[in-house]
Amino acid sequence: MPVATLEMKVVDFGRDCKTYLLWDAASKEAALIDPRFDYTAAYLKELQGAGLKLKYAIDTHTHADHLSGADRLRNLTGCAIVMSEHTKSKVADYKVADGEKLKLGEHELTFVLTPGHTPDSMSIFDGARVYTGDTLFIGSAARTDFMGGDAGKLYDSFRKLEALGKHVEVWPGHDYNGKHSSTIAAELQNNPHFKADKDGLKAMHRMKGELPANMAEILSFNSEAGLPEDKIIRPADVAKLGTPGKDFTLLDSRFIDEFEAGRIKGAVQIPLPELRDRWAEVEKLPHPIVSVCRSGVRATMAMMTARHASDKDWLLLEGGMQAWQKDGKPMVSDTGKAPDVITSKFATGGSCAAGGGTCSTVG
Ligand SMILES: [Fe+2]
Repeated sequence: MPVATLEMKVVDFGRDCKTYLLWDAASKEAALIDPRFDYTAAYLKELQGAGLKLKYAIDTHTHADHLSGADRLRNLTGCAIVMSEHTKSKVADYKVADGEKLKLGEHELTFVLTPGHTPDSMSIFDGARVYTGDTLFIGSAARTDFMGGDAGKLYDSFRKLEALGKHVEVWPGHDYNGKHSSTIAAELQNNPHFKADKDGLKAMHRMKGELPANMAEILSFNSEAGLPEDKIIRPADVAKLGTPGKDFTLLDSRFIDEFEAGRIKGAVQIPLPELRDRWAEVEKLPHPIVSVCRSGVRATMAMMTARHASDKDWLLLEGGMQAWQKDGKPMVSDTGKAPDVITSKFATGGSCAAGGGTCSTVG
């Protein structure tokens, strides 16, 4: 029977990227597994609402499909970033070995290194549940065709997960199929990847998939450094910069359908996929540049492009147009309708699953 363990809440806001909040009820010490950068404010609200102190931000691996919130959470809460000892990430504070344990109050988290999706993939076992990151999905498995992935190692990692026990609950890093959790026993029964033999698993993982959109920028952000707080500007503070187009530039990296549906007056639109090719235009724009998109993800990737071009005079509009609209700030549109923040019909991206699923990287 599973033993009493930590409190747990899924804080994914309905997205297929799963973030788990774990905490010890007595000490109020908490950990977030695989937090997203664009939900940092929401996590802080969760933590404050429950009176929790964030001790660890845990990345199950170096993510290539979304921006990690670990670095920003560390900046804002003083938590430590935990990753596998095999990670090349420069942001981790603790690099844990296989079987190493960290305490949350009186409870322990055991780190099970599960390479295969990436060399630095790991799972976290809390005594009753295992958080499998992108190693094991419900009915599916991690892709192993990029970032040093290895299907043979994934097979060995699966056996380590199996050894935790059949009653252990499985909580994956992505859920592409509307199922939230499973058990080791159910996956042994139903999951073709988990129940395959080594050669069978290797055969299933021979196919190469589409790479996640903006992978270079995402990896740069996640493994080198995120954004310091002085590079993030709240909607309420934008007016202090002066007049857009004269004193500074509002650079909107969304697609044209989103821009036309609702934008900040005076904003310049260069969609993120075109930014590198149009860099000469960017250099001529009045600086500082305030980078804006729908929720802040693409705008952050634009800032990574600027970082590589050594253009340091950029600021991120926190929460993007969604926050701008929520704050009741003025917007204009070209559609004849009331300005609105919409999701683009042009959005695409690769996923972390073997052979399918979509991952929302546009933000
Ligand atoms: Fe992944």
